[in-house]
Amino acid sequence: MRVLVTGAAGFIGSHLSEALLERGAEVVATDCFTEYYPRWLKELNLSEVIGHPRCRFVEGDLTELDLASLLNRVDYIFHQAAQPGVRASWGATFECYIHNNVLATQRLLEAAKHHPIRKVVYASSSSVYGNAETYPTPEGVTPQPVSPYGVTKLAAEHLCSLYWREFSLPVVSLRYFTAYGPRQRPDMAMSRFIRAALDGCPIEIYGGGQQSRDFTYVDDIVTANLLAAEKAPPGRIYNIGGGVEVTVNEIVRTLERQIGTLRTLRQEEGPGEARRTSADTSLARKELGYRPRVGLEEGLTRQLGSAHRRLQPEHGLAAVRLGTGAP
Ligand code: NAD
Ligand code: UGA
Repeated sequence: MRVLVTGAAGFIGSHLSEALLERGAEVVATDCFTEYYPRWLKELNLSEVIGHPRCRFVEGDLTELDLASLLNRVDYIFHQAAQPGVRASWGATFECYIHNNVLATQRLLEAAKHHPIRKVVYASSSSVYGNAETYPTPEGVTPQPVSPYGVTKLAAEHLCSLYWREFSLPVVSLRYFTAYGPRQRPDMAMSRFIRAALDGCPIEIYGGGQQSRDFTYVDDIVTANLLAAEKAPPGRIYNIGGGVEVTVNEIVRTLERQIGTLRTLRQEEGPGEARRTSADTSLARKELGYRPRVGLEEGLTRQLGSAHRRLQPEHGLAAVRLGTGAP
């Protein structure tokens, strides 16, 4: 089995590439190392992937690469590449979201429709829901994104559905709910909290900290991708959540149980934040056999352990702090 993983140097793409290699796949991994967070962190993500005898890494932007040759003999595509981040998607940076989320996806789908691909799995997002009408939220509610990022993830999801309907390209979309775990992007809550705690700095809490997320451990996201490739009927959209809705304040308390009392600093909440997310995963459970396995306490312990390892001197503390510069 040969697979293409886009965004392979990222948080989720690197875990997925490793899992596919472990399962014996031939992996064509691609990434253009966007500047959203430091390249060296992404290179570190790839340390088990690059150099693997069954992996070919191709550096490049999906809108510029020769996708026809990249897709040669590829059976499955796992499309993880994107410009992520809810809060940074306003203003001038929106162009980057259009480029990496909408245009890059359209180019990939356009190229893929000429190839005998068995399944394309697209990394969609809970951000398409915004402040949903119903919690837990089933896939059938009308999406109402509250951030420009969510708008672009939804646009790309619609493109996926179009290419299935018009060209029978077998695409499945997975709406991930806030992923966490080792290698989590440096702009995300848990990464920021852990880094602040290890540096002895206050943890910044946006708003009152009462907003909640259905946090999903990265291994569960990877499993959902593998199940979707194997079992999902083309055209489907599935919620992929962790199974428990937790407030930001509860995250801080969970971390405190592991590392002791933490200082916190209240910051104003910016525009584009959903008040809560909670996935109704009945469809993924029924059709894919998806079951989230890693609970919050265990998942945070693993992320904390990995952050400690990444802070070893050879990787440079200063460079890790650089990660806080992500928009
Ligand atoms: P990430 O930024 O760590 O990884 C994305 C990778 O894609 C980066 O390494 C980037 O360099 C690459 N990339 C971006 N544009 C590209 C292009 N045009 N050509 C080639 N490579 C490009 O992000 P992540 O957190 O691993 O997210 C992976 C996917 O999952 C994204 O599609 C994101 O929207 C989606 N998602 C993530 C979460 C989450 O909580 N992390 C939740 C919902 C959805
Ligand atoms: C995350 C990802 O960043 C998006 O790429 C993804 O698409 C989205 O999940 C999703 O599920 O679709 P977000 O839920 O904002 O977005 O994830 P975090 O950055 O981990 O934030 C979680 C919560 O913590 C938010 O309510 C945020 O306001 C809060 N937060 C974040 C803080 O209080 N302080 C911080 O320093 C960072």
